Amino acid sequence: MIRPATIHDVPRISEIINSHAELGRMLFKSYAQLYEDLRDFAVYDLDGRVVGCVAVAIIWSDLTEVRSLAVDDNYRGRGIGKALVNWCVEECRRMGIRRLMSLTYEQTFFEKLGFEVVGKESLPLKVWSDCVRCPKRDGCDEIAMVRTLHEIPIPEGPAAPPTPRGVSIPVLEYVEE
Ligand SMILES: CC(C)(COP(=O)(O)OP(=O)(O)OC[C@H]1O[C@@H](n2cnc3c(N)ncnc32)[C@H](O)[C@@H]1OP(=O)(O)O)[C@@H](O)C(=O)NCCC(=O)NCCS
Repeated sequence: MIRPATIHDVPRISEIINSHAELGRMLFKSYAQLYEDLRDFAVYDLDGRVVGCVAVAIIWSDLTEVRSLAVDDNYRGRGIGKALVNWCVEECRRMGIRRLMSLTYEQTFFEKLGFEVVGKESLPLKVWSDCVRCPKRDGCDEIAMVRTLHEIPIPEGPAAPPTPRGVSIPVLEYVEE
C-alpha cells in the first residue's frame, strides 16, 4: 500500500535513503530536510513496515521533480519502485502538472516508466538549487529525464526562468550563448 508519509515514518525513510546515499546512489537527507519536506513524501507500507519512499516536489506550474526514490535493498525487484513513481504520476495528474523530471543514474528503470533523457540545460534554473548540498556538484554525472503527461494542458502563467547559457553552474557543462 502506498500512503502519504507521517512524522512517524521519518526514521525509517532516513534509514532507507541513507543506506543508498552511503553507496553514492543518491543524495543524503538529514532529519531536518525530511521533516521540512514531509508533505511531499509517500511511503510503500508492506503490512506495517515501510520498505520504500518517494517525494514529488513542485518546481514550476508545468514541472515536478521525483526525489528521494528509494527501495529497501531486501525488497528491490518487486515492482515497488515502479509503484512509487506511478504514485508521483497520479499526484501530478491530480494537481494538473504536465511534466515530471528526475536526476538519476537509473536510466533503464525510468525509461520503462515513460521518461526520456533530456539535456540538463533544458531544465529551468530552479532545478539546480539543491546542488549546493550535493557532494558531486563539481562533477555531476546524473542523467536528466522527463516524462510528459500529454493529456494535461499547458498551464497559463509565466514560464520558469531558464538555465542561463554561458553562466557557470557547477553541475552543468559550460554552454555557449
Ligand atoms: C531504482 C529503484 C528505486 C528501483 O526500485 P525497484 O523496486 O527495485 O524497481 P521495480 O521492481 O519497480 O522495477 C521496475 C522495472 O524496472 C526494472 N529495473 C529496476 N531497476 C533496474 C536497474 N537498476 N536497471 C535496469 N532495470 C531496472 C525492473 O526490472 C522492472 O522492469 P519490468 O517492469 O520490465 O519488470 C531501486 O533499485 C533503488 O532504490 N535504488 C537505489 C536508489 C536509487 O537509485 N534511487 C533512484 C534515485 S533517482
